[in-house]
Amino acid sequence: MISMQCIGCGAEYSINDVICGCDKCGDLLEVRIDEESLREKIEKEEWKLRPISVWKYKEFLPIFDETKIVTLNEGGTPLYKCEKLAKEFGIKNLYVKNEGANPTGSFKDRGMTVGVSKALELGVKAVFCASTGNTSASLAAYAAKAGLPCIVLVPAGKIAIGKLAQAMMYGAVVVAVKGNFDVALQMATEASKKIGLYLLNSINPFRIEGQKTAAFEICDQFGWQTPDRVILPVGNAGNITAYWKGFKELKALGLIEKPPKMVGVQAAGASPIAKAFAAHSDTIEPVENPETIATAIRIGNPVNWKRALNVLKESNGAALAVTDDEIVKAQKLLARREGIFIEPASAASIAGLKKLVENGEVNVDEAIVCVATGHGLKEPEAVVKACGGIIEIDPSIEALERVIKA
Ligand code: F0G
Repeated sequence: MISMQCIGCGAEYSINDVICGCDKCGDLLEVRIDEESLREKIEKEEWKLRPISVWKYKEFLPIFDETKIVTLNEGGTPLYKCEKLAKEFGIKNLYVKNEGANPTGSFKDRGMTVGVSKALELGVKAVFCASTGNTSASLAAYAAKAGLPCIVLVPAGKIAIGKLAQAMMYGAVVVAVKGNFDVALQMATEASKKIGLYLLNSINPFRIEGQKTAAFEICDQFGWQTPDRVILPVGNAGNITAYWKGFKELKALGLIEKPPKMVGVQAAGASPIAKAFAAHSDTIEPVENPETIATAIRIGNPVNWKRALNVLKESNGAALAVTDDEIVKAQKLLARREGIFIEPASAASIAGLKKLVENGEVNVDEAIVCVATGHGLKEPEAVVKACGGIIEIDPSIEALERVIKA
């Protein structure tokens, strides 16, 4: 049996109900997979031999009609051992899971391959989301592949040009709202009910199902061991929720022994979860006007806050905030030491690790995975600004020599 359950009041729903929130109390829904039937399926070793990808773990995913699967070959992203950066930080075992290697350049593709497949299975007529950029780019691509009309709502003037270009090129109707992401998501949630559009933000439980496969891949890449700590940037807090769900499912099935500590990193100007964690509070105070260079996580009222605080508690993890300056420095450092180019929001995980090490909160021997959630080419404006000028010369060897000598 597989069903959906409300995280607030516990109400049960059929896996094939077209809803994204509890009808009774309004809280979020979560997919519940029956452990026994899953155990039977995965006891066969055959699946372990498949190459890593989201659909390697199809037994864990709530899609029943394989002809409805919409895929662009997502997942299977590299886990880099970063020795130079580890040395610079004074630790021994640092890995970066490069989710920018997904088809549209971010981790969102894991959620969208499952979410849009489910949309086809449910027979919905159109898909919809609010987004700081990556969700819209990813949904637009998967909707195009599925042949579904797609509408995306983005905060006007606050989305990176690369992400906007993707959504437009994939053929989505792009609507910019004069307000921030929190306003856009509130509108999208209301409009999806009123107009009957299928919402594919991270309040959609099938998005979380797809995204949990990144946790499976990390364990797979560690030879079915686990790192001690996984650090990831947090905006709406769907991804940290998804990773933890993934680790917990593996633990329940005896595939891993000890799930890692989960660490969420927010930008200082948009850090309600980090603030709640520091204050030992079990609720957040939304930030009314969130501001940060990391536009992907410029979110003041994360819808998954309750689940995120729970993840921190259950995993004995932590949340912290980093400044824009720390984010830009970390972005440059990863590119210049390890050749991995990530967007500012993703660099929050690296900046967060640096801070934890400096504060003495990390043991030098720990195995640590930082999740790089999105590709650096998504936000070229921020990069050009951060890296300074280009040297222009006359077309002569002498001019070139002068520059090289200088
Ligand atoms: N990193 C990147 C690159 C993102 O695009 C996002 C979220 C996050 C981290 C945070 O993930 O929200 O699950 O905590 N981007 C969303 C979007 C909000 O609309 O693209 P989260």
